[in-house]
Amino acid sequence: MCGIVGYVGPRQAYPVIIKGLQRLEYRGYDSAGIAIINGKINLYKKQGKVADLEEFVIGKNVQGHTAIGHTRWATHGEPSDRNAHPHLSRSGEIAMIHNGIIENYISLKEELTNKGYTFKSDTDTEVLLNFIEDIYINNGGNLEEAVRIALKRVVGAYCILLIEQKNPETIIAARKGSPLVIGIGKNEHFLASDASPIIEYTKEVVYVNDYEIAIVRPDELTLKNLGNEKQTPFITELDLELDAIEKSGYDHFMLKEIFEQPKTIFDCLRGRLNAEKGYINLSGVEKYLDEISNAPRIIIIACGTSWHAGLVAEYIIEETCRIPVEVEYASEFRYRNPIVNKGDMMIAISQSGETADTIVAIEKAKEQGAIIMGIVNVVGSSIARISHTGVYTHAGPEIGVASTKAFTGQLAALMMIAFKIAFYKQTISEERYLHLCNELSLVPEKAEIILQQNDSIRLIAEALKDSSNALFLGRGYNFPIALEGALKLKEISYIHAEGYPAAEMKHGPIALVDENLPVVFIATKDVYHEKIISNIQEIKARKGKVIAVINENDTVTPKLADHVIVIPEADEIIAPILNVIPLQLLSYHIGIARGCNVDMPRNLAKSVTVE
Ligand code: F6R
Repeated sequence: MCGIVGYVGPRQAYPVIIKGLQRLEYRGYDSAGIAIINGKINLYKKQGKVADLEEFVIGKNVQGHTAIGHTRWATHGEPSDRNAHPHLSRSGEIAMIHNGIIENYISLKEELTNKGYTFKSDTDTEVLLNFIEDIYINNGGNLEEAVRIALKRVVGAYCILLIEQKNPETIIAARKGSPLVIGIGKNEHFLASDASPIIEYTKEVVYVNDYEIAIVRPDELTLKNLGNEKQTPFITELDLELDAIEKSGYDHFMLKEIFEQPKTIFDCLRGRLNAEKGYINLSGVEKYLDEISNAPRIIIIACGTSWHAGLVAEYIIEETCRIPVEVEYASEFRYRNPIVNKGDMMIAISQSGETADTIVAIEKAKEQGAIIMGIVNVVGSSIARISHTGVYTHAGPEIGVASTKAFTGQLAALMMIAFKIAFYKQTISEERYLHLCNELSLVPEKAEIILQQNDSIRLIAEALKDSSNALFLGRGYNFPIALEGALKLKEISYIHAEGYPAAEMKHGPIALVDENLPVVFIATKDVYHEKIISNIQEIKARKGKVIAVINENDTVTPKLADHVIVIPEADEIIAPILNVIPLQLLSYHIGIARGCNVDMPRNLAKSVTVE
């Protein structure tokens, strides 16, 4: 949610910042801007994409060695040139970019308005900037101190970067609740919301913590807390290759990431699951094996697609481990008065590891004595760091805004956790455990077979592209997959879609069915199979168009459905991880057929760091 990037060092800053903004564009694409110091601060910003900014600066002075850049996902104030970042202070001598929300900006604005300040934008950012400048004017022009004093008054989340005209070789940065990584080069530093803009210059990075201020010069990085005490920067080596953040010949990141799944699922299982020897080794679970096994209850929190992974996990954990599971939206949990008892286990699922609601929900449960296990994709992210233990999904950077490979990675990780605990607790037999381990190990090759259906799924998409609504139905383990299929379709193609448990259809949604309504059934072999066939018949009887995801040896469904997508059979517990893949492809192709920007759907951002 908003991408920020900064550079200070011997290079021309503009190309570094623009490239960085392109890499961060998945975080927000309402507007983009850059401020560069060259004697004075030259500032350029434009509504639209980074490409619009690049066009706008043609012929303008973009020389300079210190710069900050921003790509925006609008919170306060519509997407427009004047609300775009960076903002300039009243004197014009300080420029700032911001990712987050300043919740008390109205009272700060009133304070400043009473002192005669006026504002050019509708943003909370411009208020914070002038609040900082007001302190700066009164403290003899010490920006670092002004930032520190101002932040003590701020309520909300922020990652801010500031440059000032009189100190052309310094960037001041601070964070609370929004991510900041600093790359350490030779006499140069790179600042960004995530490592993707940094990776091609250096692998040495420092993840800045909440309530820290960084004073960044070409040859020096100083970290302080808000009490002005120096902190020791903890340097980490990035485990990321440039290739992982490029399209590598695919038309879109989303397609690349769908096709990466055989490998990313394999990477998640690698070194952890050994089906032949029949073991699952997850260091994050090993340490807490007794606590998890004896937990009176597991609470799963997440948002969006990650929440759907949590729902699948609920079915699997209750079935195999016999531990009661509740799945909650993090945004609801954080504002309720939930009952959390000491010893309860919380599993927090997040691709980015930065989702604001999930972070606050974790903190709340932690205070009440829960043990937190993070299922996170981004290494070193906030959720990974605040959890007691965890399992990384190892899906690699997910750039497409719609989550695909991160979801199947989450499912693979959650399945391993469930099977490990179930075997340890002896709530499943050894035979069943070995069978599930084996079935899970076969997922990468079966995923490969599903991807071979890409062309036939594209043809189905052609037939569906003009629909206005769609229904996704599944039962049991596949009910969450129906929800996920519907979410993918609506975010990528803007077709209104709903996911339902197939049996619930008769309690309302069936009223929508007519010859124009596509109904996607997840109808692979499981205990519900015959019931789902009855549901398909009910839709056909009302002239709905049926698209069914089925297994190879199903001879009944093809006679009923208008279109079938045939995929390899798997144990019903494992099947959701495979069944979602054709739905991802279907959404992708429908989105493309409708001319949508599938990598950057309107109004969305990859990492939701505001509540
Ligand atoms: C949908 C999607 C979102 C995210 C949600 C949570 O395709 O990507 O629904 O799943 O915003 O994000 P993370 O997993 O980063 O916490």
